Amino acid sequence: MSDKKSESGKYWDEHVVSWEASTYYADKSMPKPTLWDSFSTYFRGSQLYDRMNIALEMVKPYLNGLTVLDVGCASGRFADQMLAAGAARVIGVDVSDDIIRIANDRRLAGPNKERLEFFSADVVQPGLKLPKVDIVTALGVIEYFDEKDMMNFLGNLQTPWLFLDFPDVARTTNWLQWWMRQVYIRVNKCPGVYLYERPQFTDMVHKAGYKGDIWYERRSLFHFASNLPRNPSQFKK
Ligand SMILES: C[S@@+](CC[C@H](N)C(=O)[O-])C[C@H]1O[C@@H](n2cnc3c(N)ncnc32)[C@H](O)[C@@H]1O
Repeated sequence: MSDKKSESGKYWDEHVVSWEASTYYADKSMPKPTLWDSFSTYFRGSQLYDRMNIALEMVKPYLNGLTVLDVGCASGRFADQMLAAGAARVIGVDVSDDIIRIANDRRLAGPNKERLEFFSADVVQPGLKLPKVDIVTALGVIEYFDEKDMMNFLGNLQTPWLFLDFPDVARTTNWLQWWMRQVYIRVNKCPGVYLYERPQFTDMVHKAGYKGDIWYERRSLFHFASNLPRNPSQFKK
């Protein structure tokens, strides 16, 4: 395994602290965002609070007693919410040492130190073995992975179940939002956002060794992909 960071990894390593401070603007404990990130808060509004709430509502019926790996965990907000919703343990991984330091400070200051763990790694580095868990979640992460990075990411996972915020090509149909996003990406020199067709992504997940159905669901502005049983009562760890 090499210490070299992927393109998305390098970008996020530099941007995530400011991004998070502007995205979750109600939290005044974060360092100040850059001017440009503060400006984007006006356009983004509370959208990413909504994404987290929607994702939690969808995954909560499955979480009881599970060990979760939250990929691209940033400061651990979703990890905290999944613990509160019944997960036994949540491990968070992120490419940025700085954001993992913040996540660990919060963990140590909170009531669930033993049930949370955070570490830094670039999850698309080939040959990285991520921890063995019951389910992997990732919100706002896999859209930064091109096909090669995506296959590396899927190959590095050790989990039977996936629940992912999915970069569906259908995103471009909301043209105003899509073009505002393009401006943000260009100004920030983000290396790329990659959208996928559903059959194409299903194929990639199967190639990575997952069997069975991959389902997709749109809720509000967001799309999700998972191989969990559609009916939570049929779910077995
Ligand atoms: C858009 S943010 C989403 C953060 C969080 N999941 C949320 O929804 O608030 C993308 C996250 O993925 C992380 N990330 C991006 N590329 C990564 C990589 N190659 N390896 C590990 N983490 C990565 C970033 O550092 C950042 O925390």
